[in-house]
Amino acid sequence: MSSTILITGAGGFLGGLVRPFLPLIGEANALQLSEALSANPEIRLILADVVEPKPPKSSTATTVKVDLTAKEAVDGLFTTEFGIPDTIYCLHGIMSRGSEVNFDLGLKVNFDSIRLTLQAAREFGAQSATRIKFIFASSLAVYGGVFPQTVTPETIATPEGAYGMGKLASELFVNEFSRRGFVDGRILRIPTIVVKKRPSGGNLLVHFRQGIESLCPIGDSLDSPELDLPLWLASPQTTIKNFVIARDIPADKFLPHTRVVYLPGFTATVRDELNALEKVGGRTALELVKFKDDPVSRRLVLSWPARFDITYPLSLGFIVDEGGMEPVVRQFQKDIEAGVV
Ligand SMILES: NC(=O)c1ccc[n+]([C@@H]2O[C@H](COP(=O)([O-])OP(=O)(O)OC[C@H]3O[C@@H](n4cnc5c(N)ncnc54)[C@H](O)[C@@H]3O)[C@@H](O)[C@H]2O)c1
Repeated sequence: MSSTILITGAGGFLGGLVRPFLPLIGEANALQLSEALSANPEIRLILADVVEPKPPKSSTATTVKVDLTAKEAVDGLFTTEFGIPDTIYCLHGIMSRGSEVNFDLGLKVNFDSIRLTLQAAREFGAQSATRIKFIFASSLAVYGGVFPQTVTPETIATPEGAYGMGKLASELFVNEFSRRGFVDGRILRIPTIVVKKRPSGGNLLVHFRQGIESLCPIGDSLDSPELDLPLWLASPQTTIKNFVIARDIPADKFLPHTRVVYLPGFTATVRDELNALEKVGGRTALELVKFKDDPVSRRLVLSWPARFDITYPLSLGFIVDEGGMEPVVRQFQKDIEAGVV
């Protein structure tokens, strides 16, 4: 079936990864990366970002360089030659540290522009036969303060940072717009993605063959006790597959009062991450990790929960990484070598 998909934040890390998977939507075996790379002319992509996104080789796509904090710019995404999208992956945003140190920019992008995008989806979607699926990338950063040993769908979200606040505020809008039938929202609270191609934000860098250094913002050295901090993590591959799955979940499978779902993840410490990196890449890879303790990042990360009951997301069909850190690092390294991320 033909489909037009808008991805905002398509120039970013996850937005860049999601593109190869999109041709699979609707196919029976939707989770094979190799198949994901096959062309599907039935899917048209509108890729939007404030930086020019790279068009994928295998799909019909248009790229739009756009600042989504302006209404006219947002509306323009609904009037391209591909027509009104039936699905929106709303991935653009300012990440946790960035939102904390630049509050006004964070608010403008993580809340105001999401509201503009939602409103446009409501208005343009009213011209279509079906409601636009609005898949919103939220975060575990909505949690903070006192939470139980294991977070459940009933756990109240009380963020301790501007990033989590912006995500939570946007979630409320996506939920309300869904309840009113303006859009068909799916809100994904994403774990921390554990490996990244680019060195940023303290995520484990799996680019050691090229000798690129990465910075760990938690702790001062390999001996720091802060490295025993547990985190709630997911691999990029599993997260992307879950983005694809999110689109196809029947609306009536969600809890009746909310479209919020935290995505399945696994618990590992920063030390587990470094150990896995050493196992896969050897001592040389580990030595490429430098330490510079950053109190802002540390405070934010410390406020996030690391254990979740994943019964509900699994019941919806979402998937989870198996085997902890090591397979995640191995797989990502393979994908980098194969040029698919
Ligand atoms: N990566 C993670 O660990 C993680 C975890 C939880 C949630 N998320 C969420 O998933 C989404 C994607 O994350 P990511 O890791 O790809 O982030 P990223 O920073 O790599 O990508 C975000 C993109 O948004 C774009 N953007 C920012 N302001 C914009 C504007 N005004 N107009 C248009 N585009 C703009 C940026 O240019 C960037 O390309 C984000 O919303 C993020 O909050 C990510």
